[in-house]
Amino acid sequence: MSWSDLTEWWLEEIATDPAYDRVVTPMLLDVMSAKAGKTYLDLGCGEGRVMRMLAAAGARPIGVDVNHELARRAASSGPIAEGSLPDLGFLRENSLDGAVCVLVIEHIEDHGRLFAEAARVVRSGGVLALVMNHPHWTAPGSSPISYPDDELLWRPGSYFDRGALLERAGEQEIVFHHRTMGDIVESAAVAGWSLERLIEAPHHEWADQAGILRLLACRWRLLP
Ligand SMILES: C[S@@+](CC[C@H](N)C(=O)[O-])C[C@H]1O[C@@H](n2cnc3c(N)ncnc32)[C@H](O)[C@@H]1O
Repeated sequence: MSWSDLTEWWLEEIATDPAYDRVVTPMLLDVMSAKAGKTYLDLGCGEGRVMRMLAAAGARPIGVDVNHELARRAASSGPIAEGSLPDLGFLRENSLDGAVCVLVIEHIEDHGRLFAEAARVVRSGGVLALVMNHPHWTAPGSSPISYPDDELLWRPGSYFDRGALLERAGEQEIVFHHRTMGDIVESAAVAGWSLERLIEAPHHEWADQAGILRLLACRWRLLP
């Protein structure tokens, strides 16, 4: 199932799940304060949720997405390219002040190339802000286990088994590429990104189980 077939599912997701506004967006704001007048590329912009947030801060967002209909909707917030990541060949090198990538890297097979392409198009000293499903959450076979007394535990699954997994997306399925936290941090460093901030968040619905990791957010700065 490709992302082009998931338009309705994704629009329904963000319209009905309060976690995007209550958890995901605050995590992005926590790792990255967008600066007015700066140009940021939104990698996998969807229908423009994050671009609207950047524009509201006075920044100039540019979006790229593989899904035609979502990209069309995002175009009301700034220039859009319809294209497949990690390719950013339509952008000149050193042409942007930064990039953001929210809930997208886990759908990209070659995450190392995404970091390298972002490093090519962002100016030295620019930022890359990322929010993603935590690798602890996306590990194959990881799942909650509910004990009879309602204690909720977490089965870690095969955390070290990298690869593609199919997950339910409404009536359809979506591909997640699992990699470890070390893979993410090391690939970014190899591409020239210096880590400035890394935060982890538990599942928002399981407040009594704060040890269950749900989301990961990072901010990097491009080394000269
Ligand atoms: C979970 S949605 C997140 C959308 C947006 N970042 C947000 O937070 O609202 C994932 C997005 O990534 C896009 N996407 C997935 N694979 C892609 C690829 N290879 N190239 C470009 N966009 C892709 C999808 O079309 C979708 O809009």
